[in-house]
Amino acid sequence: MSIVKSSREQGFIQRTDFFEVAEHPQSQRLYQINIRDHVIEQFLEDTSDISIQQLEYVPYMRFVVADRLNSLTNGKLKEVLTTILHDRNTGGYTTGTNSKTSESDDYVKFSTAITHLIGEPNFDSMSGNYYARFSVTDIDNSDSYLRQPYRLFTLHTDGTFVDEATDWLLMMKMKEENAVGGESRLLHLDDWNELDIYSNHGLASKEITYKAPSSKNVSKEIKRKTFFQINNKPCMCFIDQFAYPKNIEEANYLKSLSESMENDPSLIELSLPVGDLVVLNNTFWLHGRAAFEKNSELNRELLRQRGCFSE
Ligand SMILES: [Fe+2]
Repeated sequence: MSIVKSSREQGFIQRTDFFEVAEHPQSQRLYQINIRDHVIEQFLEDTSDISIQQLEYVPYMRFVVADRLNSLTNGKLKEVLTTILHDRNTGGYTTGTNSKTSESDDYVKFSTAITHLIGEPNFDSMSGNYYARFSVTDIDNSDSYLRQPYRLFTLHTDGTFVDEATDWLLMMKMKEENAVGGESRLLHLDDWNELDIYSNHGLASKEITYKAPSSKNVSKEIKRKTFFQINNKPCMCFIDQFAYPKNIEEANYLKSLSESMENDPSLIELSLPVGDLVVLNNTFWLHGRAAFEKNSELNRELLRQRGCFSE
């Protein structure tokens, strides 16, 4: 992991009066950004006049809450949030509201501030909004793995079936009751032992058709290459559920690639407290979810936003 140490030497690890950037206790590939309590408290106060409806109806208000948070850090937070996400050696972090609130409206505001310092969220067709909240409970009748509690949600990238860039994604824990398991499973592409085998395979840059199930409210088919390059490094676009291979060879390639990632020893299972969020570069981090243990009272809610970097 000497590469990761060199990224620290670039200056991401820091303590300021407004926040601290530390190596994440669960992964050398991630940072933990601890925004100071006084900043969180002031942010909650400074945004108490803004309603969730305003954020939903008036797009510029989303940037207004972002600016309020950034101003409270002397304008420093935006650069840290953005630079780490672009850093190939890491490209991810957790942060949160330090138990200063348990109001879900505050979580929406905080996550909105974070994403609008990074860029702009894409329209989420599933919710018809710039963010989506979804619950995982004991009973599920949906048409994808997203809400299925008792099975593994396999590693994937987001945005496979939409025709816009999905540079990053944010997941925030809104609620967690009677939940054992369900951790976010994460894999950085450069930690995947068999990356070279699959990224140099003859089918790596073959276009694969992606189609979404009806709950996603996206009817268009999209063709995407499984591997592509950014800054001469392999990046990935893949989800097993929505890929429609054209033949046995393509199907075997995708199946074997998925199994290789799932079995990689570098896979992280990230536990995230309620009120915390994780942000990842979606082009070189894969994410999924561990199965929950059976519980008739299971109730876990996440908020997600995904989007593109600002110019
Ligand atoms: Fe996802």
